[in-house]
Amino acid sequence: MSTVIVSQDEILRYNSILAYLKNEISARAEEKGRTLTYFIRTYGCQLNEADSEKLAGVFQDIGLIEAEENEAPDFLLLNTCTIRENADVRLFGNLGMYKTWKIQNPDMFIAVCGCMMKQQENVDKIKKSFPFVDACFGPADIHLFPSILEKKLNQRKRVFSISEEDYLVEDNCIPVKRKRKFRALVPIMYGCNNFCTYCVVPYTRGRERSRESGMILKQLEELASQGYQEVMLLGQNVNSYGKDREEEISFAELLEKAARIKGFSRIRFMTSHPKDISDEVIYTMQKYPNIERHLHLPMQSGSDRILKNMNRHYDQAQFLKTALKFRECLPDATLTTDIIVGFPGETEEDFQQTLEVIKKCKFDSAFTFQYSKRPGTKAASMPDQIPQDIVTERFGRLLELQNELTFESNRSVIGTTEEILIEGRSATAYNILTGRTRSNRLVNFSIPEGIKYQGKVIDTSDPSFDANQFEGVLAMVKLTGARPFSVEGELESFIDG
Ligand code: 5AD
Ligand code: SF4
Repeated sequence: MSTVIVSQDEILRYNSILAYLKNEISARAEEKGRTLTYFIRTYGCQLNEADSEKLAGVFQDIGLIEAEENEAPDFLLLNTCTIRENADVRLFGNLGMYKTWKIQNPDMFIAVCGCMMKQQENVDKIKKSFPFVDACFGPADIHLFPSILEKKLNQRKRVFSISEEDYLVEDNCIPVKRKRKFRALVPIMYGCNNFCTYCVVPYTRGRERSRESGMILKQLEELASQGYQEVMLLGQNVNSYGKDREEEISFAELLEKAARIKGFSRIRFMTSHPKDISDEVIYTMQKYPNIERHLHLPMQSGSDRILKNMNRHYDQAQFLKTALKFRECLPDATLTTDIIVGFPGETEEDFQQTLEVIKKCKFDSAFTFQYSKRPGTKAASMPDQIPQDIVTERFGRLLELQNELTFESNRSVIGTTEEILIEGRSATAYNILTGRTRSNRLVNFSIPEGIKYQGKVIDTSDPSFDANQFEGVLAMVKLTGARPFSVEGELESFIDG
């Protein structure tokens, strides 16, 4: 595998296919007497979300509109994840339902992309057992999507495009349809070099390749001028940003330059590897209040022996040093993590170490996972795989401890008033808004009578009231109650509203 840089000129050549596709789609729409629709189902991480926004950009550009989630679209794309086993299983389960949609509409286009497509056995399975799938392509092939569509629509052949190369594509000239009108996802690097022994990502997403900082900053300036409130800098390991390019700046410098761009009220970044995070990143966070008050620092395990077997390149003491330094420098910030239970060879003593570190760090929340054996990884062939009943039992104890800490963390902010970036209507009620604090806490809050927005009193009983109209608006909210995984509050006022 080698990195192949795809120039802007090349992207523009692919984009020129969009004109052909536009004509083709408009002819088909005319034939059917209606606008054609698309839907993208995204599994997995934020990088997949970012890829899906580019794929949606292509669909929108050629004249399709987004379908509702559960109605059969004309174009369906499944952007898959393979990080844990259940992610795979779900895809093959769902394909059955899509087959019935295709029987009802034989012109329907169905494609599968994402990390699962980098595993030959999955592609072979689709080739053989799911003949109604029209195209498969890998996570490095996103920029080829217009030509994949063209091949299918023009030549009516199934297309399998899974490149071996690690493409580095400058994103700026790819059309993007952002899911959230206030949030822009911006990949700053692709791939991962770490080869943690349990993880498939280095195999599916290839080697680390950083985008040019000048191009990233130009893109950020544009996004800020378009009115995006929030930007999320993405990479599997953002702290090693630039290390693959001699001339490049460090992640801390990139973060600082991003924070100096006028317009963003929140800059977020994901994910930081504990072995690579520098003190400068923490100091930069301290210096710029528009950088989110939140660090996601995946610990995976608290045991030195297990960390070594996971190939994580840090031990418990080093992790604690970083975590506690962060707590000391940014006492109002949240610290979250990822933990895996049941890695091969994990003893009760190792697991106890994990619980100990969790208690010391008091993570504000954690993504907890049961170890999942991924074919092709080093850990898959390690002796002493842990029986499921032991994993389940440890996982229960881990959840119990972490849930207690998360609840405690949510209780600690009661009584304060915080700035919330509103995401829209809450899942619970039409008149409850949902949003996040600067420290990424989820807050659901009510609108008391008499609150004004743009000079008018809000009337939630008015049939035309739509909580989603506040998406992307900043507000001050008094935090009044703690839930196990969220905080409740009451709106005090809108900022600039
Ligand atoms: N089993 C369980 N969890 C895993 N993760 C990655 N690979 C595996 C695996 N094989 C978790 C890690 C990582 C997060 C994104 O997913 O905790 O940080
Ligand atoms: Fe996977 Fe480790 Fe890379 Fe994260 S750092 S993507 S866990 S190999």
